Amino acid sequence: MTVLKSRIDTGADEFIANVEAMNAKLADLDVEFRTVLVGGGEKYVERHRKRGKMTARERIELLVDEDSPFLELCALAAHGSQFTVGASVVVGIGVVHGVECMLVANDPTVKGGTSNPWTLRKILRANDIALANRLPVISLVESGGADLPTQKEVFVPGGRLFRDLTRLSAAGIPTIALVFGNSTAGGAYVPGMSDHVVMIKDQSKVFLGGPPLVKMATGEVSDDEELGGAEMHARVSGLSDYLAADEQDALRIGRRIVARLNWRKRGPEPVAVAEPLYDAEDLLGIVPCDLKIPFDPREVIARLVDGSDFDEFKPDYGSSLCTGWATVHGYPVGILANAQGVLFSQEAQKATQFIQLANRSDTPLLFLHNTTGYMVGKEYEQGGIIKHGAMMINAVSNSTVPHISILMGASYGAGHYGMCGRAYDPRFLFAWPSAKSAVMGAQQLAGVISIVSRAATEARGGVVDEEADAGMRAMIEAQIEIESVPTFLSGMLYDDGVIDPRDTRTILGQTLSAIATAPIEGTSNFGVFRM
Ligand code: COA
Repeated sequence: MTVLKSRIDTGADEFIANVEAMNAKLADLDVEFRTVLVGGGEKYVERHRKRGKMTARERIELLVDEDSPFLELCALAAHGSQFTVGASVVVGIGVVHGVECMLVANDPTVKGGTSNPWTLRKILRANDIALANRLPVISLVESGGADLPTQKEVFVPGGRLFRDLTRLSAAGIPTIALVFGNSTAGGAYVPGMSDHVVMIKDQSKVFLGGPPLVKMATGEVSDDEELGGAEMHARVSGLSDYLAADEQDALRIGRRIVARLNWRKRGPEPVAVAEPLYDAEDLLGIVPCDLKIPFDPREVIARLVDGSDFDEFKPDYGSSLCTGWATVHGYPVGILANAQGVLFSQEAQKATQFIQLANRSDTPLLFLHNTTGYMVGKEYEQGGIIKHGAMMINAVSNSTVPHISILMGASYGAGHYGMCGRAYDPRFLFAWPSAKSAVMGAQQLAGVISIVSRAATEARGGVVDEEADAGMRAMIEAQIEIESVPTFLSGMLYDDGVIDPRDTRTILGQTLSAIATAPIEGTSNFGVFRM
């Protein structure tokens, strides 16, 4: 055992200030999450209940195993947009009859559960996660189809929703649709493309076009039941495989379907678990309020990994990046954690070797971000920082073991890419409330624009207006600051959720367990490394 030793002084003024700052951010986040929980708002929830229906979250709660956790993903989708936060759909990983499944539940209290551009992106993300990790998908359907005013953004790309479902099926991943209400037009293809379909008597309505549309199109007069009622689909069209008596019965049948899938995990079994030696509570005070101040990621690792046991790789080489091996909830991981913010050539080369080693031993990788990017400057350019950074990005891009990224502090510039940012398809990416991500820091970005525009003014023979320049810098800085924070980035679906640092170990355990549903296989096939 190589047990990490913590050097944190939890009584130090600086630590206490960090905890206060983190708690303030968590309180703000809590307000956001409470808004998400009320879906379309009290008026619509009330109306929904008066119809004798359960909310999307209540349905999920009854579907998953008793007392099992539900890992909700992308809860803040659409934050900062014109649409309701959460994007009228609840998605996440839940355990149904002992099987980890991807649950996708339309929220009918938000615009009839219709899909706007953010709903679409969120469901596509859920499908990607299901495919990569071999998770059965259960759709809890009640949706009026496309959000008509924004149809131009959902209609064409929205075709992927249905393509994904059948591709999941072709990959041998089961897809189950439990239809709770209206499932019109595009919504009708969700049961249409699913392997197993349950509908509820007198409640589910599945048709390509409702009675008014049919009357418009062909002049035929019909009612809901004959066009798309559950009984008709169970007895006549054959679209439904099971006819449920009510919502509870549909959820019960859904659980029975999963029980009969005979689903087996294909990844490794976890080994025995020892809890970390240090308190997760301390994670609130490790990241400094000012991200320019570096912190030791070993303090974080000591609170995330089993037994705080960490075998560091190349500790004396490229020390601005800490790399090493550990287990989390019994699952082996290789960890890459930024230690001093900047990545130099040595760090990039060390990371590349480490990623290759993880691929040789089929070990998933965990990236803990706090980086301002690769080092700039004459000495470093001449030393080949571009080719070394590219080498690390090559390794990250072509590595086939699962990756998980946690944004703890800064995640700027190409450092975000090298550390497996969103575009590099980590299986999961979560951000702490203290994280910030952008092409560079707000102050630096405003400064760069100022230098460029000053030079342009001077080149034209003009005189720099200092007051205007200061105003412009302040404005840009404020804008970039707003666009770099986790709630904003989460709204854009650039992460799978903003999490309380204290929950990180649990969430890593849940995601590593979900990941182990699929086989874990590394590669030795990387792009050409520019030496
Ligand atoms: N696009 C955008 N908004 C829609 C919508 C759609 N497809 N369907 C419903 N809405 C809006 C309604 O205008 C209403 O908004 P408001 O409360 O701000 O006035 C809100 O969603 C709730 O709709 P409502 O009809 O009151 O809810 P309901 O629960 O009684 O019925 C539906 C829900 C989905 C069954 C019903 O609205 C419907 O049939 N919509 C049209 C479905 C359709 O034809 N879709 C084709 C898509 S390709």
